Amino acid sequence: MKHTLQKISFHLFLCCLVLACAPKKKEINYPTTDLAQNSLIPKPLEVIATNSAFGLDSKTAIFTNQTTEGFEDVGMYLAEKIKQRLHLDIPVNSTLDETVERIIYINQTDSLDSEAPEAYQLYIKNDSILLNATTAAGAFRGIQTLRQLIPEESNDTVAEQPMWLIPSGKIVDAPLFEYRGAMLDVARHFFTVEEVKKFIDLLAYYKYNKFHMHLTDDQGWRIEIKSWPKLTEIGAQSEVGGGPGGFYTQEEFKELVQYAAERHMEIIPEVDMPGHTNAASFSYPVLNGNGKKLSYYTGTHVGFSTFDARKDTVYAFLDDVIREIAAISPSPYFHIGGDESHATKKTDYIHFVEKVEAIVRKHDKVMVGWEEIVQGKLDSGSIIQFWQDSVNAKTAALKGHQIIFSPAHKAYLDMQYDTLSKHGLHWAAYIPVDTAYNWDPSSYIKSLPKDHILGFEAPLWSETISNSAELEYLAFPRAIGYSELGWTPAESRDWEGYKARLADQTAFLKRMNVAYYPSKLIDWKEPKNVYKEIKKD
Ligand code: ACM
Repeated sequence: MKHTLQKISFHLFLCCLVLACAPKKKEINYPTTDLAQNSLIPKPLEVIATNSAFGLDSKTAIFTNQTTEGFEDVGMYLAEKIKQRLHLDIPVNSTLDETVERIIYINQTDSLDSEAPEAYQLYIKNDSILLNATTAAGAFRGIQTLRQLIPEESNDTVAEQPMWLIPSGKIVDAPLFEYRGAMLDVARHFFTVEEVKKFIDLLAYYKYNKFHMHLTDDQGWRIEIKSWPKLTEIGAQSEVGGGPGGFYTQEEFKELVQYAAERHMEIIPEVDMPGHTNAASFSYPVLNGNGKKLSYYTGTHVGFSTFDARKDTVYAFLDDVIREIAAISPSPYFHIGGDESHATKKTDYIHFVEKVEAIVRKHDKVMVGWEEIVQGKLDSGSIIQFWQDSVNAKTAALKGHQIIFSPAHKAYLDMQYDTLSKHGLHWAAYIPVDTAYNWDPSSYIKSLPKDHILGFEAPLWSETISNSAELEYLAFPRAIGYSELGWTPAESRDWEGYKARLADQTAFLKRMNVAYYPSKLIDWKEPKNVYKEIKKD
């Protein structure tokens, strides 16, 4: 009944609109445009072209559902992006008067075929675009598709004012995995709030929904903990190569969380332990478990530091750290690292992860850890992040855990493209753009049951990078292909098709000033006219 009423009210709404606009509307003879020839990334599930177009121009208005939280914000986000890119002022939920000739309606519905919360459908006609989604997150994914469909060039021959022709048809879409993430290591080198926001913006355009921040490591501690102030007074003041380091105040972390949330992305904080803890132990030597004299560490070796897993103070410290971060982190997940603890005895390591799991649960979070944590006797609800050893992934599945896929020699964004790469490492592999794309997380480990795969994440470790340009060199274009591995089923993906769609991302990447690696495998297509984004007011 509710569905029927919603449908009726929407159709009534459209009818009123058409009637209201009818006397003013000029007939437009749209040229043929083909929705099936789109360059959408990630590739949608289903696209049906109807070979006409919707004309986006200054007579377009956006309307949204106003009763479900978040839908109007999605409309505002779309209007802002259109303004930045096309310099058009498109009203959102304002009055429908004779100046409006075409509408984009962002509609809440509970009757999509897919039950995935991020599913959406787009119906693009001459005079209207209807975007249906169950949740605001689904609507947000849908408007990324719309953004990608706006052509680079306006078509001045259709109307006396510039009009951007969005090809007509229907798109039905839903993600393959519920977890589609990227990670940034802000510990080896610190990245500013603005640099992190830019990365989040780019990931959101490709429908990522998780952003994992590796906040602590041997070289630096990057988040303010009010009850243990030396972590930032001492532990934050270093980084690889001897640079100044830095940290996020809790207010700044909240600002990042909010920024990501506006893009329907969740920030997952990681505090790496019991290894990778030199910066914490140097700040508070009582935590140290390796018996060595401590100092700042600005090199890139791993595996030498450890907390003292048998000391109560360590767990009191972790209780404070996890409590303070949990209080400013709405994500259900808390990542405890757990990798490469080579300086921790195995029995101590197991004791440690089991104790820390209880602390994480006490603060109402689900524990995530790198694959080594599977050695502990853990709650099956804890999540394992596979990065190296498929035996750990199989054990995790046998023990009932969900797994995030991040195999280093396919998915690590810090691996060099080839021997000539300016930045990056190659301890796992060289990963050219085609290798990064041409594999399938779902069948990567034979005999691993698919229903244990929560999703995919591409980690970017920062030993060799320290600013946005260097970050972008490693992350782009590979992160674009990874978005498709997370969203689109393997049977719909192929390198040749993807390669052509990737070539069409040039305009977006240039417009956003992304210092992507111009791989020779791609025939990058530069449009004649890249509109410059205008700054926010
Ligand atoms: C890792 O690469 N140490 C998770």
